[in-house]
Amino acid sequence: MTATASLEQLRRCHFAVDLGAARTRVYVKGAGLVVDQPSVAAVNTRNGALIAVGEFAERMTGRTPDYIRVVRPVSGGTVVDIEMAQRMLRHLLGDRMRRSLRRRPRLRAAACTPHDADPLAQRATIETLVGLGARRVELVDTLIAAAVGCGLPVERAEATMILVCGAAATQVAVLSLGSIVTAQRMPVGGEAVDRAIVQHLRHEHALMLPSQSVRPLQVALHGNGLTADGPASTEIHGRDVATGLARSVLVDTAAVREAIQTPLTTVLDGIYKVLRDCPPDLVADLADRGIMMVGGSALLPGLDQMLREATGMPVNIAERPDVCAVQGLGDMLEGKVEPLVLDPLGA
Ligand SMILES: Nc1ncnc2c1ncn2[C@@H]1O[C@H](COP(=O)(O)OP(=O)(O)OP(=O)(O)O)[C@@H](O)[C@H]1O
Ligand SMILES: [Mg+2]
Repeated sequence: MTATASLEQLRRCHFAVDLGAARTRVYVKGAGLVVDQPSVAAVNTRNGALIAVGEFAERMTGRTPDYIRVVRPVSGGTVVDIEMAQRMLRHLLGDRMRRSLRRRPRLRAAACTPHDADPLAQRATIETLVGLGARRVELVDTLIAAAVGCGLPVERAEATMILVCGAAATQVAVLSLGSIVTAQRMPVGGEAVDRAIVQHLRHEHALMLPSQSVRPLQVALHGNGLTADGPASTEIHGRDVATGLARSVLVDTAAVREAIQTPLTTVLDGIYKVLRDCPPDLVADLADRGIMMVGGSALLPGLDQMLREATGMPVNIAERPDVCAVQGLGDMLEGKVEPLVLDPLGA
């Protein structure tokens, strides 16, 4: 089932939400992108009060006393705790923005949901936004929203391929004439890559690393770190698994590359499947136009180069890959997306 509302309906929405496993983003019509924060809330378990949301809550991860719990209401790309997601969104929006939204007589919201999201997951997203006062919620497939947001010419007859590299999932599609020709959703993303790196350091170097501090290692892998031309080794600071004392080790980057092969292979398999399922005429277009990468994990150093080598196709990263999906929703709200006009004579 593809959840894609009509442009007509979307133009009547007042705000749009992308509830991601890693980050929550909100676009308000006329105001632009007003929220781009981690999907995290910190709760006082003694009285249920919300202590912090977004960046502040994320910084508390792993360093709170017993009575504070850090929660993630979105997991695997779907809202798993509707009430908490609503409270988090209310706080992220802030009083002023919420009041201005509430003034609209019939508040309408749009949201993107992962490709092939099941009806329960869709319902959870809808309910979250209804709790925020929306009287109507339009759902858009993330693949379409992201393609619009990065300016791909989705309405044309030539095929384009988009790869959405999220935290919990990676989605890939071939698009033509404004719709999805074939698509796959793989349940691995930035989180799986981070986990593989954390496990590698633990097993091979007896080094503990909270997964938030994986980024330094990724940064150290810069300059095509995922390909063989990157630096041979890099120094990582962590704690000894046995003693708990601070320690740094020199990590072999080739071994890190090896460690993240499993999630990356799953992504490649999905891309190959989509190519196999794609009509031959469209495959020729794809060879010219290549793959457009969006999503935060598109910035994983060297991932683009790795895909170029594996597929032999041109690979590009969108200008602001992390916000493409919500930007696409925003463009639809603002009426910037032309409805598909089919003119067989091309006049
Ligand atoms: N510069 C970077 N290098 C490597 N990874 C990055 C970088 N910036 C962000 N990421 C990763 O991107 C992911 C977040 O991407 P994004 O914001 O698209 O996720 P999301 O929309 O919340 O997730 P999903 O769509 O799967 O629900 C995280 O796993 C994060 O580690
Ligand atoms: Mg996302």
